[in-house]
Amino acid sequence: KTIHILNGPNLNLLGQRQPEIYGHDTLADIEVACAAVAAEQGHAVRLFQSNHEGEIVDQIHAARRDAAAIVINPAAYSHTSVAILDALNSFDGPVIEVHISNIHKRESFRHHSYVSLRADGVIAGCGVEGYALAVQRICSLLG
Ligand code: DQA
Repeated sequence: KTIHILNGPNLNLLGQRQPEIYGHDTLADIEVACAAVAAEQGHAVRLFQSNHEGEIVDQIHAARRDAAAIVINPAAYSHTSVAILDALNSFDGPVIEVHISNIHKRESFRHHSYVSLRADGVIAGCGVEGYALAVQRICSLLG
């Protein structure tokens, strides 16, 4: 089965952007790590990143056809986007939300995530390893 790994704004700069918070790994490194975890259970991953809210909504709609599960780091849209929450509510499979940093240890505007209202699980503050942990959890849920 295919697991979509969706990433929101500024995560294309992962590895360069505030490395003291987000680390030195890039999205390409994350894709390799997640693909390895998924492959052990006979699954595959497809990673997507966009800086545009509507494109993330479109990818969630595409996942209704193409994906069994979603791992999503909505980045700043976590804290603002009812549109991404509504799109996720149209998706039937498991959804795990990932934040590289511990959003609860940061500014109060990061403490609330609309996406958490839909997510089956949330991983925050485990660095980029959170993505592979999320894929592992998805594999257990998919069976
Ligand atoms: C983030 C946390 C968000 O608050 C922030 O806007 C991001 C990344 C994280 O992965 O820690 O861009 O989702």
